[in-house]
Amino acid sequence: MENNNNHQNPHAIIVAYPLQGHVIPCVHLAMKLASKGFTITFVNTHSIHNQIIEATSNQTAHDHDIFSDALKSGLDIRYKTVSDGFPLEFDRSLNHDQFMAGLLYVFSAHVDRLVGDIVRNSDPQVSCLIADTFFVWSSMISKKYNLINISFWTEPALVFNLYYHWDLLIAHGHFASIDNREDTIDYIPGVRAIEPKNLMSYLQATDTSTIVHKLISKAFEEVKMADFIICNTVQELEPATLSALQEKQPTYAIGPIFPTGFAKSPVATSLWSESECTQWLHNKPPKSVLYVSFGSYAHASKNDIVEIAEGLLLSEVSFIWVLRPDIVSSDETEFLPVGFEENIKGRGLIVTWCCQIEVISHSAIGGFLTHCGWNSILESIWCGVPLLCFPLLTDQFTNRKLAVDDWKIGLNFCDDKNKPITRKLVSDKIHRLMRRKSGDGDDELIKNIKDVKRTLENALSLANGSSERNFHRFI
Ligand code: UDX
Repeated sequence: MENNNNHQNPHAIIVAYPLQGHVIPCVHLAMKLASKGFTITFVNTHSIHNQIIEATSNQTAHDHDIFSDALKSGLDIRYKTVSDGFPLEFDRSLNHDQFMAGLLYVFSAHVDRLVGDIVRNSDPQVSCLIADTFFVWSSMISKKYNLINISFWTEPALVFNLYYHWDLLIAHGHFASIDNREDTIDYIPGVRAIEPKNLMSYLQATDTSTIVHKLISKAFEEVKMADFIICNTVQELEPATLSALQEKQPTYAIGPIFPTGFAKSPVATSLWSESECTQWLHNKPPKSVLYVSFGSYAHASKNDIVEIAEGLLLSEVSFIWVLRPDIVSSDETEFLPVGFEENIKGRGLIVTWCCQIEVISHSAIGGFLTHCGWNSILESIWCGVPLLCFPLLTDQFTNRKLAVDDWKIGLNFCDDKNKPITRKLVSDKIHRLMRRKSGDGDDELIKNIKDVKRTLENALSLANGSSERNFHRFI
């Protein structure tokens, strides 16, 4: 849709799910829609907004509107914040279940009030609501304000499809299997075969009475009432899964959704202050540095962090390691081996957060030890950086299957999840990833990742790429 003065621009309200891995693609979706002539009202929670502002202070002035720079480039993006029902000082990570209960039972009333206000007072008139699939109120609110109901899915279509068919998993006894079922799941439409160990962690857990289970099951009842589903994936990457979904509901694969030019976004999205890493990387040889990050949400055990640290030392490979202060848990702040930071001087850089796309697109990066968050996988493919896969939670087990078993662009970090991680294993795996010699079987990794990268690039090609086409069809 081009800007057309004779018609009102379509106006979408976009509500971002209040987690880092969801806010980032949501912001870039907003930018992309605005660049096609949409007016956007983008909604963050007060808490996410506050964290972004705290993280960016002393870096760039954002006038307390994260889109202010985007506005300067002529895009019509308005910015609002909404309460998630908790005071700002409430620790959402420490009180995770209480926070999730708030998102399930309380948040809708706040969104309802805000959307009503925007609908009543906006020009151009609001036509649609784009809400993250994990929200449980989209159909109620879009119906109330007569808006088109669009669900935005930020993870692979495979994960969506497995949640979508939760009832089939229950019927076949694979949901929360107390018998530790190991037989292949081969009855989900669009999924040829998947092992139970590759299901999302919530589908494997034996305690299914948690608040997260309630939230996800309600969200996937909701999504069945959406008018459209848009997914941050690529048709050619997951053709069978997407075709099966497309038979059920209008579903558009429009990914990968990245900032323009895969460059640092003009819009602040980081919840932690970013450390500058590129100067340090400039002094390293090409493909010599391992990037290590476990994303924004997952926790690791103290033992695993210690063994990874010792394994990094043993490997003698250079590395950048993003270690969030709450990586082990919010109240355990001392988790690195004594003297570790002294021992790695010059060879290793530890930061609490960085601009990941800036780091992994640097020519010095040769591998990524990742928790397999979907954004991280897409970004790594885009940069042609092979993966060492260490899934910790939620969709990451399923994402690992796609990366390692299906596309063969990564290695498993632990081949047997029942065996503890040891420093020797860590060092060996890092060597396999980083010190591949020509002729090694693992050079296949590079060939495969180049192929998958080409698939992403083709999908975004302005001349008939599938994601571009789907984006236009969706609009
Ligand atoms: C969560 C889930 O864990 C993930 O599996 C799901 O797909 C999305 O929600 P998260 O754990 O944060 O996301 O992982 P990921 O999907 O990889 O997203 C992290 C984002 O933060 C990426 O876009 C990455 O570029 C960015 N990031 C990460 C930084 O900018 N700096 C960092 O230091 C680390």
